[in-house]
Amino acid sequence: MVSVSAPGKLMLFGEHAVVYGKHCIVTAVDKRLIANLQRSKDISINSMDYKIRNYVLDKLDKLPSELKFVSSSIRYFYDKYRIKGGVSIATGGTLKSSYGLGSSSAIIVCIIKGLAKLFRVPLPNRTLFDVSYKINRLVQGAGSGFDVASAIYGKTLNYVAGGKVIQKVKVKDLPLVIGYTGIKAHTPTIVKEVANRYRENPEYHDDIFDDIDKISLKAKDEIEHKKWRKVGSLMDKNQELLRKLGVSSFKLEEMVNAAKDAGAYGAKLSGAGVGDCMIAIPDGSVEAVKDAIKEAGGQVISIKVNADGVKAN
Ligand code: MEV
Repeated sequence: MVSVSAPGKLMLFGEHAVVYGKHCIVTAVDKRLIANLQRSKDISINSMDYKIRNYVLDKLDKLPSELKFVSSSIRYFYDKYRIKGGVSIATGGTLKSSYGLGSSSAIIVCIIKGLAKLFRVPLPNRTLFDVSYKINRLVQGAGSGFDVASAIYGKTLNYVAGGKVIQKVKVKDLPLVIGYTGIKAHTPTIVKEVANRYRENPEYHDDIFDDIDKISLKAKDEIEHKKWRKVGSLMDKNQELLRKLGVSSFKLEEMVNAAKDAGAYGAKLSGAGVGDCMIAIPDGSVEAVKDAIKEAGGQVISIKVNADGVKAN
């Protein structure tokens, strides 16, 4: 049997701008997706998250929608590497699909890494990235692939779409408070809405994306020097630009403002926006920032960041 695990992610800086070729900073989180694979007669899937037991993929063409990432990964791998034997796959772990922490990219990475190990296909990380990113695009139709890179390489990365830049940010730990809005965001829809607005007014959006790019690169330096007050102030600037892009929301604003009022150095939404999570860099009073986020209706989630990338054994 092969057992693979990959981390979820949290966007620190540069969401949306990264889709337009700019830099972003992403960190891997200690919630992990796990896939266990073993050779078998058929191709079958068990998923704890989706309560699916022993679903047999017939000819790889009857795909239940909950399993589209799993089934598309299997199909792509089988076609590309002309695999003949069957496989039984069970997925689970602590990375649930609800928080928007990148469970779909983590599952693709786990399945591809696991199949490669099981069928002895040599797959260096760069190829694993290229294959997983292609599958991600096939299923979602959009996306920069930052979540795929994070699932593979882990830690904290400076990233440019398509893997043009995948560079480790030299940091051991990041003091972050994370608040979940309770609202599940549908990333492909939000990315499409931004694309529609971009077509109507490219200059306006290009200026915003250029400014976000500068913030992400500056943030990388400040993070490496542990200048948390400065990192916080860059978060505030990034949040202002995300507001201008129209991807913030009433709930996110309330949580961000509550964190700031409680003394956080800075706060912003994390990810596509509209819902999912916000992040804050607390000053000394971590508990006060957490309480303020809760009072604003958010759920504080306890996650460690800078986690390891994909692992297989
Ligand atoms: C979503 O978590 C982040 C976006 O930048 C989309 C992407 O980069 O794929 C909005």
